[in-house]
Formats: sequence, C-alpha cells, structure tokens
Amino acid sequence: MAVDEAVRGQVNVREAPWYHPTGNEVALFEQCHARGLAVMLKGPTGCGKTRFIEHMAWKLGRPLITIPCHDDLAASDLIGRFLIQHNGTVWQDGPLTRAVREGAICYLDEVVEARQDTVVVLHALTDHRRLLPIDKTGETLQAAPGFQLVVSYNPGYQRMLKDLKPSTRQRFVSMDLDFPPPEQEVRIVQHESGLDEATAKGLVALAERIRQLRDRGLAEVPSTRLLIAAGALAVSGIDLREACQAAIVSPLSDEPSMVAALRDLVDATFV
Ligand SMILES: Nc1ncnc2c1ncn2[C@@H]1O[C@H](COP(=O)(O)OP(=O)(O)OP(=O)(O)O)[C@@H](O)[C@H]1O
Ligand SMILES: [Mg+2]
Repeated sequence: MAVDEAVRGQVNVREAPWYHPTGNEVALFEQCHARGLAVMLKGPTGCGKTRFIEHMAWKLGRPLITIPCHDDLAASDLIGRFLIQHNGTVWQDGPLTRAVREGAICYLDEVVEARQDTVVVLHALTDHRRLLPIDKTGETLQAAPGFQLVVSYNPGYQRMLKDLKPSTRQRFVSMDLDFPPPEQEVRIVQHESGLDEATAKGLVALAERIRQLRDRGLAEVPSTRLLIAAGALAVSGIDLREACQAAIVSPLSDEPSMVAALRDLVDATFV
C-alpha cells in the first residue's frame, strides 16, 4: 500500500547525492521550484531521474517524499484515510498530504502506472492556487511554501497500453533526461563503479553499439545503471566479459540469436 511504500528522503543527509548534469537541467529545475511549477521528468529507465531528484531535493534543502505508482494506487493512498482504533477513528495523512503540509518535494515515480481517478487528485495542486481538497475530512489544504510536485514518466515503456491524458500532461513542465553523451557517461560510470577510465570508455562504447540495435529486435537498450553494475562487478574482480554477460547481455534479452549478437559485440569491444 502506498502509505507504507512512500520513501522519505532525509534533508539532513550531509553529503549531496552525486549528480553529474548533462545539460541545463539543474538551473531549469531550480527555476521551476522557485515558481512552484510541477515538473515531469521524462526518460528511459536507469538514466538518472531518481538520482537527479534526490540531488535537487538536497540542493534546495527540501524533504523528498517518493511514491511509487502502480495500478491499484487509490486516491486515498495518496491523501490519507480514517483508521479505526480502540477509542474511535483517527485520520492519517497519506504521503501527498504530508508533502503538502511540510512543503516537501513529492516525487511520484512512474505516474503513468497510476489510475486516472488517482492522478486527477493532483490537478488542483498544479494550479496557481496549489490546493489539496480532502473530501473525507472536508478540509482544503493550501500547499506550504517549498511544496513541489514532480512525476517521472518513461515514454517508451508501455506505450500504446497506457498514456497520460493531455489534461494531466499540460500541467507539468517537462524535462527530458536521456542517456548522457558518451564522455559524460564515462565519468558517471567511473564515479559510480570505481572503474578505470579506459574500461569505462569500453563499456560506454559497448552501450553505444547496443543502443543502435533498438528497433532492430532489441526492445530495451542498456541503461547507465546496467553499465555501472557491469563496472562494479569488474572492479570486484569478476572477469570483464563475464560481468558484461551478467549485467548487460542477460538482462536485455532471452532470445538466443539476440544474446549471441550481443555477445559478439562484447567480444568485439573488449578484444
Ligand atoms: N547524471 C547522473 N549523475 C549521477 N549518477 C547517474 C546519472 N545518471 C545515472 N546515474 C547513475 O545511474 C543509476 C541509475 O539512475 P536512476 O536510478 O536515477 O535512474 P532512473 O531514471 O530513476 O531509472 P528508473 O526509471 O528505472 O527509476 C544511479 O543510481 C546512478 O548511479
Ligand atoms: Mg527511478
């Protein structure tokens, strides 16, 4: 249930979650935050959306409340509910309501997974009045300063099956976070895995080659996250090709001819 699943980020984490900008996203996000604009982070899995929002919440000194969305997430999971106790009923705020009261950044991960009637509760919060009506208590909350709504959305994933309504999409400033350009991805892989530069360059070159197979039989392409996993395995002493097999090839495909093609690319990259 969402109330329990919501993850509360700590404002008092001493060190900033490390984030390597790939464009003007930090300044753009800061301006959106200052103006109370809701933001949609668009991008493929493992491209750095979560890391970016963790970094920005730290930089702006706001608590971060993360809500993973799924298809039975109800409005009451976001807003709250009455709980029955021995001496009567007590109201318990949901994670969205807590974020509104505390002036937190509320991050709804994979918002397209949530039901339409759940997503609609966000609408009034994205107007200039920034209100959250709580039907069950009759209250209407005005969002505290610093409150910001951020959603993530992976455009390729489940395309056709599900999409966001224009009336929802048009309430968000959209920021595209794709895989970083090669030189920057090398730095990210190095920093996160501890890998040497030459090997990190090899992994990124491999990823570039595999990414060209998109729409040629490969549904999912390797994310920065997978490269980091392969790098971390190699750093811990696993043979590099074996690390690529376990962390890159196998997660991407089960289809024998595709697996063979990916293996060939690994061999060609690390001769
Ligand atoms: N620009 C970046 N700066 C720092 N680390 C990054 C960056 N991009 C990716 N990473 C690394 O890649 C990992 C995966 O990124 P992250 O979890 O933020 O992806 P995501 O876009 O939220 O993916 P998903 O859609 O699956 O939730 C991070 O843990 C981090 O190590
Ligand atoms: Mg994420």
